[in-house]
Amino acid sequence: MDIFVIQGGSPLSGTVRVSGAKNAALPLMAASLLAEGPMEIVGAPRLRDISTFGKVLRHMGASVERLDAGGDGRETVRIDPRTVGKAEAPYELVKTMRASVLVLGPLVARHGRARISLPGGCAIGARPIDQHLKGLELMGAKTSLVEGYVEVDAGRLSGATIYFDMKTVTGTENLMMAATLARGTTVLKNAAREPEVCDLARALRAMGADIEGEGTDEIAVRGTDSLRGTRHEVMPDRIEASTLLLAGAITGGDVTVRGADPFAMDAVLTKLAESGAEVFADPGSVRVRREGPIRSLNLETSPYPGFPTDVQAQFMAYLCLGDGFSIVRETIFENRFMHVAELRRMGARIEVSGNAAAVKGVQALSGAPLMATDLRASASLVLAGLAANGTTEVLRIYHLDRGYEALENKLARLGARISRVKE
Ligand code: EPU
Repeated sequence: MDIFVIQGGSPLSGTVRVSGAKNAALPLMAASLLAEGPMEIVGAPRLRDISTFGKVLRHMGASVERLDAGGDGRETVRIDPRTVGKAEAPYELVKTMRASVLVLGPLVARHGRARISLPGGCAIGARPIDQHLKGLELMGAKTSLVEGYVEVDAGRLSGATIYFDMKTVTGTENLMMAATLARGTTVLKNAAREPEVCDLARALRAMGADIEGEGTDEIAVRGTDSLRGTRHEVMPDRIEASTLLLAGAITGGDVTVRGADPFAMDAVLTKLAESGAEVFADPGSVRVRREGPIRSLNLETSPYPGFPTDVQAQFMAYLCLGDGFSIVRETIFENRFMHVAELRRMGARIEVSGNAAAVKGVQALSGAPLMATDLRASASLVLAGLAANGTTEVLRIYHLDRGYEALENKLARLGARISRVKE
């Protein structure tokens, strides 16, 4: 198993390029199942989650290939769904990646049925899929749970009005995809507004779908008889970009992320500015520089356009070095403070009560051996290690590799002393 070894204490500076967004690329891969021809996803990041999703699609009979990177080094994933024969996602694959549930809507819409392993809880919370199933039932599907698998049967789905009981990103994506081939109009109310939902809507429209309202909390989809394949460029990864900018800010450096979309990152950039960092945002590039102290502040995660839960752990690492008290409240997932125990081992002063963490800033963190527990928690430990005195080892970075494309290379390009070694 690989580990990261980090010598902390050097301010990071320079420019790196953002990768394509994992959480946009995965639904785009699922959307390929709706099409009658091949789909090309340009700039899909080279990540384990992307290859796992490729395996899910191959298991169904699709052909999935990575095309050579163009001049800009970005890869294209080409998916041909015409050979799909099995509408099934097995336990072995779903257990390693919950996002496999995104195949549900497209399979039911295109093939009238699906059988997928019910994802279990995961490190950050219980994460049920009741809203996905409720929506499909309202569209006329029958769902049942048989031996740990969700089985869904439907003729052609019918349009329906569906109200989500909570904001759900993949739930909105799943039902938006299902609705594209339904008979009649579907209205999704209290829909998620995340930029990744909008990116998917844009791709579906290029495939011939009739969608309105993405980016608001009401999305209307008029079903059509068929969709064609398309070529779509994945949006930049706002979570990776935020993590890299925080790496600059926590080390008192000056980092520019090229290709980042500042509009999609507004909550994080506003909080960085509130903490005393200078933020320079252009369309297509964001720069963050910090010279003065980190001003402690309070933050609360919430659905987009609120502060993203996927940046909570990384921002908490930053606030550990703040000049006073911060309160960080997590409202999306019930168990997303696993980084706290590890940060404490570096000297951070954090108390957790329910969904709130009280962080008292300290002068310095000290390097330590640390255990990564989930994707974003791992990133927060790396950030803490970059700012700490001495050496930090982050174990189990396979969690991090699920969502960050060669993070150590990007950080090293900014001057970080970080290496990947085999344990
Ligand atoms: N929920 C339900 N029932 C449902 C669906 C969701 O109770 O049917 C609850 C969840 O348990 C959670 C809340 O609603 O408490 C929000 O969950 P959501 O469905 O929005 O999460 P998701 O779609 O499973 C996506 C991202 C996550 C990100 C969340 C929140 C993908 C592939 N995953 O998950 O990304 O944290 O939205 O923004 O898009 C990550 O990249 O590290 C990651 C975990």
